[in-house]
Amino acid sequence: MKAVAVFPAKRELHLVDHPEPSRESPTQAKVRMLDVGICGTDKEIASFQYGTPPEGEEYLIIGHESLGEVLEVGPGAQKVKEGDLVIATVRRPCARPECQACRQGRQDFCYTGDFTERGIKQRHGYLTEFVVEEEQYLNIVPRDLRDVAVLVEPLTIAEKSLTQLWQIQQRLPWGCAPADDNGPGHCHHALVLGAGPVGLLGAMALKIAGFDVTVYSRTHSHADKDDIVDAIGARFIPAEKYSVEQMAKEIGPIDVVYEAVGASSLAFEVIEVLGPNAVFIFTGVPGRKAPIKVDTDVIMRDMVLKNQVVFGSVNAAPKNFQDAIRDLGTFRQRWPTALSSVITGRFPLDQAIDLLTSDKGGIKNVVAVSSE
Ligand code: BGC
Ligand code: ZN
Repeated sequence: MKAVAVFPAKRELHLVDHPEPSRESPTQAKVRMLDVGICGTDKEIASFQYGTPPEGEEYLIIGHESLGEVLEVGPGAQKVKEGDLVIATVRRPCARPECQACRQGRQDFCYTGDFTERGIKQRHGYLTEFVVEEEQYLNIVPRDLRDVAVLVEPLTIAEKSLTQLWQIQQRLPWGCAPADDNGPGHCHHALVLGAGPVGLLGAMALKIAGFDVTVYSRTHSHADKDDIVDAIGARFIPAEKYSVEQMAKEIGPIDVVYEAVGASSLAFEVIEVLGPNAVFIFTGVPGRKAPIKVDTDVIMRDMVLKNQVVFGSVNAAPKNFQDAIRDLGTFRQRWPTALSSVITGRFPLDQAIDLLTSDKGGIKNVVAVSSE
């Protein structure tokens, strides 16, 4: 079968002919890949900055944002059945008995660092025709989400962040009037940094959680981003026209920041303008650039005197995938056009290399590996 593989030692990226996998345990399912989304991590792997092949192998099949259709299941499978649309999770547990997180199925919190990740770290990914996976790592998606379901994985980043945010903000045990069912973010202001797929999906998740949402981003060449932000009832503030300070003045106190840019300079500038009891969530993974100047005294003072929390969040648990599938359904109902316009390009598998190595613009570009 065809697969897109990176050879880190040789610094090569090509289509390879990889042996088609077959089921090896009664609880596994064989899945035909339909859509695979391409993100910054994939581009870093494709340019040899990141990514590790499985032990003893020369190449890594890349791709971790998946949508597939179950072709066959083993006799022990209880959750998935033939014909189901499924999204596979990315991270697999480490093998160390002392890792409490992995032993509890929470490898997103792995202590040892010996976890593996499909398409990223020591396990083949999804940019290929067929995949075999244990059913416990598969999440069923309703058919009517077929065209946007590949957005589930990037949305899990927001879901895991929100789960942690609610836990942290339990420290503020008051609601604000009127107490209605507008969601736990009701009467609070969230700021999203960046209008890429992670930022836009994060903005939608914050919006349905009840927040008043502002997205601060460069407009780039892709004008549709601010249309999407408008359509979901959030406010777009262009970074080329407003400095961080002007933006902060414009919107007033910020309760939550969802960082989805991966640029530390912008992030720390925003941390300096956070309000009382604010929470700042990091989700981006910056490359190493030259050190920047940060006024650490201001930040430390404010963190103490204003009860601020800064946390980072990586990967996702099964619950976050289920939450993402549910919320994607809500997005579809509320903003069908805006949601669909997050996916700006679909390319056949033969064009995946080009997609990974050039800048096609747009928001989320997807490899349509096959159609049902
Ligand atoms: C993926 C995560 C992964 C992280 C680090 C991200 O692009 O979405 O699943 O944990 O990269 O490898
Ligand atoms: Zn990703």
